[in-house]
Amino acid sequence: MTLIEPASLRRRYLLALALGPLVACGTAATECLSVEDTADPSCPTEAEASDLLLGAKCGYTVNAVTGAGTIEMVDIPWDTGDAIPQCCFPTLEVEDTIPSCVVGRPFLDQGVIKTAPAAARTGWARGRRPDVRRLTRAERAVLARAWTEDALIEHASVAAFARTTLELMAVGAPADLLAAVQAAAADEVRHARLSFALAERYGAAAVSPGRLQLGASVAIETDLARLAATTFREGCVGETVVSLLSARAAAAATDPAAKALLTLVAHDEARHAELAWRTLSWLLQEGGADALAAVEAEVLGLLANGVRLTQITTGADDRVLAAHGRIRPAAAMMARDQAIAEVILPCVRALLGHVSARAA
Ligand SMILES: [Fe+2]
Ligand SMILES: [Fe+2]
Repeated sequence: MTLIEPASLRRRYLLALALGPLVACGTAATECLSVEDTADPSCPTEAEASDLLLGAKCGYTVNAVTGAGTIEMVDIPWDTGDAIPQCCFPTLEVEDTIPSCVVGRPFLDQGVIKTAPAAARTGWARGRRPDVRRLTRAERAVLARAWTEDALIEHASVAAFARTTLELMAVGAPADLLAAVQAAAADEVRHARLSFALAERYGAAAVSPGRLQLGASVAIETDLARLAATTFREGCVGETVVSLLSARAAAAATDPAAKALLTLVAHDEARHAELAWRTLSWLLQEGGADALAAVEAEVLGLLANGVRLTQITTGADDRVLAAHGRIRPAAAMMARDQAIAEVILPCVRALLGHVSARAA
């Protein structure tokens, strides 16, 4: 059954009008889906795959599925070493220029989320291991992939906070903000290690981050208005949302290891968001009218566009996924909307009102 969603309808009508290639742009790529029955694998139709694959991912957007799926044996770095069957579709994808993936604080390189690749080696995983005895191999593969992706983003958050340290130093930030940013980076190392421990256990093989490609230099922003805007977007919005998502995922999780990790992450991210609000307050104080205008523009953008959720895990029974810490889509949307309506907007209104009154 085809989902009635704006993206699906747009694609369907444009293909019917033979205009698909005009708007379904991007570079050729491949997206693979887990198969339910690994002993007798079969592929969904192109239309069904479109419903599952089209849309924003973490750092890129799948614009079109351009052909039928084929069963391929795919080597997954965090799996046991022997390839597993996946259903792979040709796609058109574009890299996101505006960061919208919310999993803690992303590490951005020219607007694109950057992570290290997964490497099949030991060294990072440390923490409680989940109970995988009742899971099928396909379910374990889905969970291993999801937790590896989270672990790599947590790992990259260390770089994001390292850059924030340099940026705050460059604009003369006070000592308490710098100390808190350093502590937040250490939290992200812990989140990454715990997430890699889950990923290893689900995948039954070692997984750690590979080399994070940083290029010749890392851009350091020193413009107070732009720093205020990114602090609001990535910290005040991103980390508030992920804190609430993690709390809801922890409440639904029954596996003790996943529950413990998510509970820790929920508390840490709430603290990181608090740090972002404090940083924003200081930047608004230092940055004057330009910083105020930049944050007001961000708020208008948030009201117009909302926050896309891209860390939703699919490919297995969502009750199984929820038990192992992967939040259900409906719960994620509710948590996000509550975070925006009940936390972020009241806080930013209060802060901007306070700054304006102080300036008058
Ligand atoms: Fe964080
Ligand atoms: Fe984190």
